Amino acid sequence: MDKILITGGNQLNGRIKISGAKNSALKLMVASLLTDEDLVLTNLPALHDVYTLLGVLEGLGVDCNFEKDQQKLTLNAGSVTDTKAPYDLVRKMRASILVLGPLLAKHGHADVSLPGGCAIGTRPVDLHLNGLKQLGAEIVLEEGYVKAKAPNGLKGANILFPKVSVGATEHLMMAACLAEGVTVLSNAAREPEIVDLGNCLNTMGAEISGLGTNTITIKGKKKLGGANHHVLADRIETGTYAIAVGMTGGKVVLEDTNIELINSLVEPLARAGVDVIGEGNTITVTRTSEKLHGVDIMTEPYPGFPTDLQAQIMAMLTICDGAGMITETIFENRFMHVPELCRMGANISVHGSSALVRGVPELKGAEVMATDLRASVAMILAGLVAKGTTTMSRIYHLDRGYDNIVDKLNACGADLERVSDS
Ligand code: UD1
Repeated sequence: MDKILITGGNQLNGRIKISGAKNSALKLMVASLLTDEDLVLTNLPALHDVYTLLGVLEGLGVDCNFEKDQQKLTLNAGSVTDTKAPYDLVRKMRASILVLGPLLAKHGHADVSLPGGCAIGTRPVDLHLNGLKQLGAEIVLEEGYVKAKAPNGLKGANILFPKVSVGATEHLMMAACLAEGVTVLSNAAREPEIVDLGNCLNTMGAEISGLGTNTITIKGKKKLGGANHHVLADRIETGTYAIAVGMTGGKVVLEDTNIELINSLVEPLARAGVDVIGEGNTITVTRTSEKLHGVDIMTEPYPGFPTDLQAQIMAMLTICDGAGMITETIFENRFMHVPELCRMGANISVHGSSALVRGVPELKGAEVMATDLRASVAMILAGLVAKGTTTMSRIYHLDRGYDNIVDKLNACGADLERVSDS
C-alpha cells in the first residue's frame, strides 16, 4: 500500500488549478439514471470515489465512457439491465445509496445495499428512506439491502426534513423529478453542489425551483432528456489549499474556482492573518501576519463553516498564537485526526463535540495514519509545516477525494513523495 512522505518547512508559491467538486460529480453521475439519453459531464475529477461509482453504474448496465485526459464522462442509462446495487460496490462509498431513488422513480423497483463509507459517526439513511416512503415507495430492509418498490410510480408530496441533510435533499430532489405531481422539500440543504445538481436536472428537462434556499419545489415530469454539464469547482479542495498557504506562508493563486464558494472560510482566515482575495475565477491567498492567530470555529450546514474543512482548520490552529475552539455540529465522532495531530506535537483536548486547540511553536514530523478523507489531508497540511519528515499511511482515504494532490503541492514548492510500500 502506498505512503506519502512529507518533508516540512517550505513555503508555497505558485498556482493551483482546482478540480471539479467530488460531492457534485457523484450526484451528477447518479442523475444519468433518470434519462435514456446521454449525460455528458465535463470538469470531472479523476478520484477513487468517481471510479467506485462508475463501478456501481456499470454494474447496473449504464454505458460509461470516461475520457480521463479531457476530464469528460459520457453516461447513458438507456439500457439499464439491473436495478440491484450489491454490497461489494456500495459498501466502498456511502453516496452509492443515492442510486436507489432514481432507479425506483424510473423503473418502479430497486434493491440497494446499505452503505459504508467514511467512518465518521453512525451516519444513518433514515431521512432518505422516510422521504422515499412519503413519495409512495414501499420499502423493506432485508439481509442488509434496502428493497424498494413503487409499482404505480412515485407521487409528489410535501416533505419536511427533521434535520438538514445534503444527501437526502439530493436523493429526493432526483426521485421527485419523475414523480407524478409536485414535491416540496422543506428544511432542505442549500449547498452549492445541490444547486449544481438542480441546474443540471433542469437542463435535462426537470422543473425545479428554490435551489439554494431551504424550500425546493419540484414539478414532476414523465421523462427527462440528456444534457452537457460542467461540474462546479470543488470548494473543499479550494479551502484546503487556502488553509495550506495560510500555514506555510507564501502566495498562491487558486484557479478555476470562486471565492463565493468559500465565504465562510474567508472571514476566519482573515482573523487568523491570512488574506484571501477573489477575482473572477481565481482566488489569491497570502499570509499577512508573521504568526497565525487563534480563531473559534463552529461547523454548520451551508452557508455555515463546512464540516469537510474542520480537520484542515484544526491543523492550522495547532501552530497558531494563542488558542482556538472548534465545535463540530454535523457529525459525531469527527475528531479522529486529533490523536494523529497530537503525535506530531499538537496540543488538543476534546470535550464532547468541541476541541480546544492550543497553538504550539512547532510540529514535528511523525508516522501518522489517515483515518478518513478530510483527516488525511489535515495530516498533509500539518506535515507541510512540521520539522522533519511525516510519513502518512492508509492514503487510500486521500485518493478518494483529492485529485493529484502531490503534484499540485510540489509544483508550488512543497516536498511530498508518494512511495510504494511493497
Ligand atoms: C455530504 C457530503 C459530506 C459532507 C456532508 C455534510 C457527499 C458525498 N458527502 O454527506 O462530504 O461532510 O454532506 O456537509 O456529498 N443524517 C441522518 N439521517 C440521514 C442522513 C443524514 O441522521 O438519513 C445525519 C448525518 O448523520 C449527519 C447529518 O445528518 O449527522 C448531515 O449529514 P448529510 O448532510 O446527510 O451528509 P451526507 O449527504 O452523507
